[in-house]
Amino acid sequence: MALPPNFLEELRARTPLAPLIQRKTRLTKSGRNWKGCCPFHGEKTPSFYVYDDHFHCFGCGAHGDAISFVMRAEGQGFPEAVERLAAEAGMRIPQATPEAAARERRARDLYGVLEAAEAAFRRRLRLPEGEAALAYLKRRGLTEETIAAFGLGWSGSGRGVLAAELKAEGITPAQLAEAGLMREREDGEGYSDLYFNRVIFPIRDRRGRVISFGGRILGDGQPKYVNGPETSLFSKRRNLYGLDLAREGAFRGAPVVVVEGYMDVIALHQAGFAGAVAPLGTALTPEQMEELWRLTPEPVLCFDGDAAGGRAAARAAEAALPLLTTERSLKLATLPQGEDPDTLVARRGPAGFTAVLDGARQLSEALYALLTEGRPAATPEQRAGLRNRLAEAANAIPDKSLAAEYRRALLDRFFASTRAAPGGRGGPPGRKPQAPPRNRPAITAARTRGAQAAALLAITLRHPWLLAEVEECFAAIDPDDARLAECHAAMLAWLEGGHELDSTRLMDQLAGRGLAELATGLLRDPGLPEAAGAEAQPKDVLDGWWHFYGLLRGEAALLEDLAIAQRDWVTATDPVAQARVQQRLIRLKQALAAQRRGEAEEAALPAGSLG
Ligand code: UTP
Ligand code: MN
Repeated sequence: MALPPNFLEELRARTPLAPLIQRKTRLTKSGRNWKGCCPFHGEKTPSFYVYDDHFHCFGCGAHGDAISFVMRAEGQGFPEAVERLAAEAGMRIPQATPEAAARERRARDLYGVLEAAEAAFRRRLRLPEGEAALAYLKRRGLTEETIAAFGLGWSGSGRGVLAAELKAEGITPAQLAEAGLMREREDGEGYSDLYFNRVIFPIRDRRGRVISFGGRILGDGQPKYVNGPETSLFSKRRNLYGLDLAREGAFRGAPVVVVEGYMDVIALHQAGFAGAVAPLGTALTPEQMEELWRLTPEPVLCFDGDAAGGRAAARAAEAALPLLTTERSLKLATLPQGEDPDTLVARRGPAGFTAVLDGARQLSEALYALLTEGRPAATPEQRAGLRNRLAEAANAIPDKSLAAEYRRALLDRFFASTRAAPGGRGGPPGRKPQAPPRNRPAITAARTRGAQAAALLAITLRHPWLLAEVEECFAAIDPDDARLAECHAAMLAWLEGGHELDSTRLMDQLAGRGLAELATGLLRDPGLPEAAGAEAQPKDVLDGWWHFYGLLRGEAALLEDLAIAQRDWVTATDPVAQARVQQRLIRLKQALAAQRRGEAEEAALPAGSLG
């Protein structure tokens, strides 16, 4: 039966082994695995073990995966077993056509192509041309064993050198293109290399077969990493970097930890954290979560200690809710500000990362803070909105009892925190005390900052369309003035509702939250900047917005914004998102330059607003 590449792989992935085997013999938990009496030979004491993807009987030697289990247990042939499992997994069996057969053959060849390329890259690292790359890896602290374990290599200079070298093994440029190593030139004149002058990181599937590559530039430069395209063997959303090694590690009891980057995974393994993996340049997908749960009931997701890291953690937590069961959860860990796991173990050794893992919080604990962070709970409307949000999150969990437990835990905290701050405006429950603005000269009085924030809000109120461009930065501002903060939060909530970006609607919404007077006051202020005028040209509106944003933020915060934007630029997947981030980068750099030129001092501020 000719099945396309990946089909059986996916079938196995979608067929959890323990429940399948449970139908034939009672299994009990044994550490991370299951055990029971062997269904294939009579026994009274269990010697039959079920692992994440295979079973093994230490009594009779029976051994295999889900497909061979069905074949043996039901006395079926391979095609019937596959058919049955596919039906249960809701997968359609592809037609056994001659094309499919050819495709399968090619896929088998494709693994060979990737393996040959990996060997070539590894060889090059040891040639004189690879010297700089090898020195780079050593400088980053990698040992020879680590370089070998991860199969790191050097791409060569491009210009077809890989194709020339592999020609001797009968590999054609067309095959290299199919393997994601070359791409067809736009002028149709043959193929060009995807990787040149880069350190090569082979990407392997869960079984350790090379399926693609990542390539890092030596030192600084853009793009920092080049990743292989989707191919018939490589799916970004289904694979995790380091998974083959992490399976081993998890088997020996290492915690399974998800970090962000290739170098983080490598540095962690070298430091003894054998369960480290990373997604492949995108946010963690449900498919990847499933992979992790095959290794452990509670993987740890590790996030940066900055605002962007917090948002990413919130997104990951919300995405995980519909997948939770009583057996599958996760933990969230936070890195110290400004560190990634690689820099952390370089600076503080394994103990530094152990501390991060020790600080990991259960999803049920972390969820409350993630859902309420930055959301005001001052008015009855806001509090009710927040409660709805908490209840909705719990309702996303399919298991009814588990959902009920989460709902209760979340609401308990909600009531505890609202009681804790009686009467006060009380920021959002669980919110940390406001950090003092950093790096602002003392002469920049609160009054001035209030006026800057007011100007920014006024421009935004009059021209909400600009939120499409400035959303991330708008979310970052944090007015000192309580009323302005409330207005800002209400605008953010409205923005998240995905409404048409229309000024009248926005004003209506604010009115509904008791902010009508404040909002109209903002727009009527005689000292408003021109950008807040109804007739201002879009370009002037944006220029004005960014001008006040720069003033309000100050240099240190702008630098943080810039770092976040750079990171977002890296992870933006589609061209539209990328163009948006690029725009943000340009604006932030301009704002920073203006700050450094000292424009802050001479800037004309709107007078008399909200003093
Ligand atoms: P980082 O920028 O955090 O890189 O991107 P890093 O892993 O710390 O790398 P070093 O330490 O500078 O060498 C995190 C991950 O995002 C993806 C890669 O998977 C990277 O490991 N990425 C980053 C890309 O896919 N493309 C890029 O241009 C940059
Ligand atoms: Mn790094």
